[in-house]
Amino acid sequence: MDRARTCADNFPDAIRDESVPIFTQPVYAKNVARSSEGNYSSGVASTTPRDEQFMRVALKEAEKALGRTSPNPAVGAVLVVGDRVVARGHHRGAGHEHAEVECLRTFGAKLPARATLYVTLEPCSTFGRTTPCTNAIIKAGVKNVVIGAVDVNPRHSGRGIAQLRTAGIKVREGILTKECARLNEAFNKWIVNRRPFVIAKCGMSLDGRLTRPPGEPHWITDSAARRDAHQLRAYVDAILVGAETVRTDNPRLTPRGVHGARQPWRVVLTRSGGLPRRAHLFRDRFAMRTLIYKGKPLAAVLKDLGRRSVTSVLIEGGGKVLGEALDARLIDKVQIYLGSILTGGPAIAFSGRGAGTTANAIHLNRVCYQQIGQGVCITAYPQGLVPE
Ligand SMILES: NC(=O)c1ccc[n+]([C@@H]2O[C@H](COP(=O)([O-])OP(=O)(O)OC[C@H]3O[C@@H](n4cnc5c(N)ncnc54)[C@H](OP(=O)(O)O)[C@@H]3O)[C@@H](O)[C@H]2O)c1
Ligand SMILES: [Zn+2]
Repeated sequence: MDRARTCADNFPDAIRDESVPIFTQPVYAKNVARSSEGNYSSGVASTTPRDEQFMRVALKEAEKALGRTSPNPAVGAVLVVGDRVVARGHHRGAGHEHAEVECLRTFGAKLPARATLYVTLEPCSTFGRTTPCTNAIIKAGVKNVVIGAVDVNPRHSGRGIAQLRTAGIKVREGILTKECARLNEAFNKWIVNRRPFVIAKCGMSLDGRLTRPPGEPHWITDSAARRDAHQLRAYVDAILVGAETVRTDNPRLTPRGVHGARQPWRVVLTRSGGLPRRAHLFRDRFAMRTLIYKGKPLAAVLKDLGRRSVTSVLIEGGGKVLGEALDARLIDKVQIYLGSILTGGPAIAFSGRGAGTTANAIHLNRVCYQQIGQGVCITAYPQGLVPE
């Protein structure tokens, strides 16, 4: 079985290269608000098996464009008549139709009164790039709407539902709320706090190292884990690494082998500015997607990225950058690929100051263990973080 899942050159002039934007203005991060659970989901209500069944189909629709809708959320919709799904739609990305509109357009006929529209996220109610979905739903003559997650944006939350009800539409909400909200965990943080959702990811040996001894091959994990990690890259807006990782590994930071994936921003942190100008990040066809931040604290970098509509950042190491992220309590989720190896290599996975005391330790919840190839992937969410 491949998978089992249990959830519970130092050339400083490289940075003067005009193809590589440089951001050196100091900006300081403010507090990040989270729910008491430490996550970014909205509330839960009672569900029925039938509603859940159709909401799962809508979720599958939403997942089709996951990683390609930023800075918009991934949304799916299905139209149900009797016990049949008669139309489907999903949001394909900024500037495209919203899921509900695509779904109703696909149906393309007069709606029977008993038709029900299932949508994973509360329909939008304000004018943006598109007209509000609430208008489209009302105009199409939909009489029943079932909603997964409520919009977490305080300016919009509940307004779409209220508009539909005012128009005489029967609305039920809270169906598979957690699943629908988790699909957009990154968007949900960014839209509320304007800070990207931060995933700390690494391939780690069982003795907590990121590397093998110097001069040896640098992979810690097997090819199955690396495939999975490429998929993860395809879901995020930016991948961030420390300069030492660029100097040592010369990574590409591309989502290879993932059909239709967008190239995320590639962000490099350096204090010295000593980066190899022949590195793939500055020379390949995505060189315009590489940003260098010189001499800025990680929190300030994240704040700046959030301002640029980067909703999610995958920190891929090395150990010093991961350590800073941990010490500054900037991590929203960890995704650690444990390789079945004890290396004794020099780079420690999170080489920051550490918690100091047990009381300061970061406890994780929603921990999920998934066997991938010969290793284990652990995903989890730090609980109750107070940012520095
Ligand atoms: N197994 C894995 O998943 C994995 C992933 C990535 C890397 N690695 C390995 O990890 C090793 C590198 O890790 P490492 O801990 O030695 O170094 P690192 O974290 O990759 O890079 C450290 C460097 O990043 C820069 N930096 C860090 N924080 C900064 C900040 N806040 N502002 C500005 N610059 C900052 C500094 O660059 P300057 O020195 O230029 O000032 C610092 O020396 C490599 O051997 C690589 O193979 C393994
Ligand atoms: Zn909409």
